[in-house]
Amino acid sequence: MANDTITEIAEEEILPRTQDFLDKQMKCLIDGKWVDSASGAGFSVYNPANGKIIGMAPSGDKEDINFAVKAARKVFDDPRHSWNTMTPSERGKLIWKIGDLILENADELAELESIDNGKPKAVARAADVPLSADLFHYMAGWATKIEGNTIPISVPYAPGAKFHAFTVREPVGVIGQIIPWNFPLLMAAWKLGPALATGNCVVLKPAEQTPLTAVRLGEILQEAGVPDGVVNIVTGMGETAGAALAAHDDVDKVAFTGSTEVGKMIVKAAGGNLKKVTLELGGKSPNIIFKDTANLEQTIAGAASAIFFNHGQCCCAGSRLYVEKDICEEVVNGIADAAKQIKLGPGLANDTEMGPLVSEEQLARVTGYMDAGQEAGATCVTGGSRLGEQGYFVSPTIYKDASEDMSIVREEIFGPVVVASPFDDIEEIIKRSNDTTYGLAAGIWTKDIAKAHHTAARLRAGTVWVNCYNIFDSALPFGGYKQSGWGREMGHEVLELYTETKAVCIGL
Ligand code: NAI
Ligand code: MG
Repeated sequence: MANDTITEIAEEEILPRTQDFLDKQMKCLIDGKWVDSASGAGFSVYNPANGKIIGMAPSGDKEDINFAVKAARKVFDDPRHSWNTMTPSERGKLIWKIGDLILENADELAELESIDNGKPKAVARAADVPLSADLFHYMAGWATKIEGNTIPISVPYAPGAKFHAFTVREPVGVIGQIIPWNFPLLMAAWKLGPALATGNCVVLKPAEQTPLTAVRLGEILQEAGVPDGVVNIVTGMGETAGAALAAHDDVDKVAFTGSTEVGKMIVKAAGGNLKKVTLELGGKSPNIIFKDTANLEQTIAGAASAIFFNHGQCCCAGSRLYVEKDICEEVVNGIADAAKQIKLGPGLANDTEMGPLVSEEQLARVTGYMDAGQEAGATCVTGGSRLGEQGYFVSPTIYKDASEDMSIVREEIFGPVVVASPFDDIEEIIKRSNDTTYGLAAGIWTKDIAKAHHTAARLRAGTVWVNCYNIFDSALPFGGYKQSGWGREMGHEVLELYTETKAVCIGL
């Protein structure tokens, strides 16, 4: 078994500029200034590959959120502020530049992401960083295309009267953005890109596990020329800084990505001033393999990557694998073989294919589910436990013979753990696939195009991948049905969620 051991790296080689960033004291960005938390308190940031402290970040709390919201509000409310007088074209160029600067600093950002989150540096360099840059480049183009309509109206109680009616789309205002640790830089990009393209002001709170690239992005935003106060970044805990932001009466909208549990808390907290809320939450996505899939080898590789990519720490992970009976054993064994070949190690090691989980808490959560699966009587095909004693590594894991009521089948594990089970009939599998409180994503593997369309249409999920998985693009909206969320990220759909529509009616 290749993943019995974890690669050791004696001397972690990182770029001098990455080291420079790590050597600096992390601060919050408020009103264009880098500041400590008001209380002076900080929290430790850990390297998940060895559990060692890599830095301290300010522990922002209610007071810091108040300062940040005030700074954002001051900009938003001042019609003469450069952010508000900037032409859409100038704003687009500024956002484009953020994308360029991310690419210029790609190696450093990938290293920071790897050290902070645990993911392989090569993956961060190939996926997280370029996708983040592309999101800004994509949104830059929209800055000049936020359009309203002219609307012919008929007003029955004003016969003969003439009107000129039109809509304009205006920024919502001050936006609170709370993001998770699984794709720290990319989640910041998904949130900031559309907010800036539509002219809003922002207070961003990164996850306490992974503040590094958000802070580095703050420097990049300044370098690109984003005016002071337009984007404020407050590091801190969810229960303090996050909760204060969600509840703040002068915040017009909160955009959240994270657990469904906290998503529900955000909705309650938002009730005070009825701020707008968008949520991108958990999932338990079905991945359905029909026996007429075109290429079994590629399908097996696709299904393995659907669950093991980013160590399963993806809201859209294909964590419920349903395989048509005749080929189920072959597919399960194929994925088990793939799992055993995955090279685990620290994200910074060049040959690492899967790093550690992000935190000790996440390690406990994922191994807790493994124990629960074992106890409930599921069969572990491969994996099923922690790996090594240093860092937060777990083996890529497959269960079979699980019943639909087990927690490993029903709940989001957010680790490299898939539960496989056979099916006989298309109607049966559509029903089982939809038997979940979530509705984020789904996968279908078949070469029968009619079957693919029929199944895709019946699945209650925000994204359906056919003969592929984990395909993301800035132009493709992403988000959830049911308890997987409210609203969409990316594409032009997200722009509607960062604008208010104003109808103007002029009597002529
Ligand atoms: P979480 O939902 O607690 O954290 C996400 C963000 O919310 C972080 O920035 C955190 O500081 C903030 N937060 C936490 N409590 C808050 C509160 N009361 N008010 C405002 N903000 C708050 O997620 P956590 O604890 O890191 O992970 C737990 C589980 O959540 C994972 O096992 C996974 O199932 C799910 N999750 C889903 C994600 C997704 O992409 N949909 C991302 C991260 C976690
Ligand atoms: Mg939490």
